Amino acid sequence: MRMNKMDLLIMSNSKTQRVILIPMVSYSRSMFGVVLLLVILLFSSSSSSSSMAATIKHFKWHVEYKHWSPDGVEGTVLAINGRFPGPTIRARAGDTINVELTNKLTTEGLVIHWHGIPQIGTPWADGTASISQCPINAGETFVYRFKVPKAGTYFYHGHYGMQRSAGLYGSLIVDVAEGETEPFRYDGEFNLLLSDWWHKSSHDQDLDLSSAPMRWIGEPQSLLINGRGQFNCSLAAHFSKARISPCSFRGGEQYAPYILHVRPNMTYRLRLASTTALSALNFAIGEHKLVVVEGDGNYLKPFSVDNMDIYSGETYSVLFTTNQNPSQNYFISITVRGREPKTPPALTLLNYDDDHRHPTRPPPVAPRWDDYDASIAFSNKILALEGSPKPPSHYHRRIVLLNTQNLIDGYTKWAINNVSLVLPTTPYLGSIKYGIPNAFDPKGPPDRFGDEEGYDITRPAPIQTAVYGSGVYVLRFNTTVDVVLQNANVLKANVSEIHPWHLHGHDFWVLGYGAGKFRDVDEAGFNLRNPPLRNTAVVYPYGWTALRFVADNPGAWAFHCHIEPHLHMGMGTVFVEGARRVRIPTPVAAEALACGLTGKWLMSHNPGHH
Ligand code: C2O
Ligand code: CU
Repeated sequence: MRMNKMDLLIMSNSKTQRVILIPMVSYSRSMFGVVLLLVILLFSSSSSSSSMAATIKHFKWHVEYKHWSPDGVEGTVLAINGRFPGPTIRARAGDTINVELTNKLTTEGLVIHWHGIPQIGTPWADGTASISQCPINAGETFVYRFKVPKAGTYFYHGHYGMQRSAGLYGSLIVDVAEGETEPFRYDGEFNLLLSDWWHKSSHDQDLDLSSAPMRWIGEPQSLLINGRGQFNCSLAAHFSKARISPCSFRGGEQYAPYILHVRPNMTYRLRLASTTALSALNFAIGEHKLVVVEGDGNYLKPFSVDNMDIYSGETYSVLFTTNQNPSQNYFISITVRGREPKTPPALTLLNYDDDHRHPTRPPPVAPRWDDYDASIAFSNKILALEGSPKPPSHYHRRIVLLNTQNLIDGYTKWAINNVSLVLPTTPYLGSIKYGIPNAFDPKGPPDRFGDEEGYDITRPAPIQTAVYGSGVYVLRFNTTVDVVLQNANVLKANVSEIHPWHLHGHDFWVLGYGAGKFRDVDEAGFNLRNPPLRNTAVVYPYGWTALRFVADNPGAWAFHCHIEPHLHMGMGTVFVEGARRVRIPTPVAAEALACGLTGKWLMSHNPGHH
């Protein structure tokens, strides 16, 4: 049989997919005995009435830099157990995840954050450097142990410096508890982890961003689907007028596309998660409708679209039915939105057909990058599934967070209510729990900024007013908090950017989006009937977004723009709630919190620990 390029492509890809699957299966088999033993131990030692099927899932990971070619150009990635992206964690609701993480980097600390997992009762396992723990030192091991209470699509990633940009991420999927069912049906499932990739290393990017004047990192060279992209070639070259070469694969390439092999007349669940450093994305499958059913681990009122936006920090489940001509194949396309795209779309194939033909139709076309109306229309379709938890009808405290880009001593920074976040050396969780003074700015940022002065959100920040700060918002335990994100102009005239904001430790209800400057009377338009619960929500250019949550999870929780360079430039803040009531087990405290001032404090209060 004569094979063309596409044959090779698909065969090599199915091989790689098998290679990925085999170690996972054998790994979980070998762990089966251990898991069983621990289940028995758990039940003999615990009097709680938790689900009979709950288990502990054990993982042993090491992180190191590796040469890798995510898009055909070799660079370096942060690999977990020698792989990029990291291994997928799969568990059931109610399970405990136990990750024994060894930092094999030679000169860097390390943490991993479990994005979307609320860490109820385990705030020290949230994996945020300087907030929930000290970075794990080079050569050391730290055990993350936490529960996954709710089914849904999640992911994990580095949360120290720009380690997420360096490729430290992977999927975390939680199935419904044994005996439970999802509120929708499907015959098969795929998981796509979306990211963006630069040929410049994350260390160089870090230096660029923190130089004065700042050197902007620019748009990514490639978009990656499950860590695979194609630089300087296109799977759809034959549709392109530009002189771009078709991709060819010999087999086994690290960047060979992840192809979705389907059978006709079936319904598939597609899990999407975006861990991009910068890019807002639009996702589409040629000729196929997408029915959105889950966002950030919460069920949504199903709605059907031709294409959908996904921002960094968001996850979705969509259903699609393979009801198109089965003798054709179709393009799956991921396109940059919200910034003038200089990055070609990421493409892969929906493959019905064993003949592995090229699709006869070009890739689906996304809305224009600056068609914000299309994006806002999509956001407004996202509503909670009937029967979902409803928000309290009143709030106790409203915090309006003005997002500005500022110059501080010649450095370009982002500020929230005029404060550009600088993380302290002592993690907040430890210094607050133990009452250690001077660990961070005692004065928190204000609940509002710029109102009296009549701050003009349509103009660049007027003067060098913003300051560096490490203060936090202390929320009264169990109160209802409204957070309104207020967007504004950046330093350049007539530009306002999209920011996807992510909250740790909580889901929040998204009560509404509006244009211009938020006024308290705008609350009349809040959706209190069926707002979706999410952990990430976007604020549109020159607009506002209103969120509500109940401060009922003791800990110190980051709230920040999920664009990695923006967070790196200070675009975040910290909410502290009930942190004095957190009971931190002594061994955890010694391991997770013994740095900065807490180290000295723990030594003097627990002389047994050195
Ligand atoms: Cu996914 Cu604080 O981040
Ligand atoms: Cu941002």
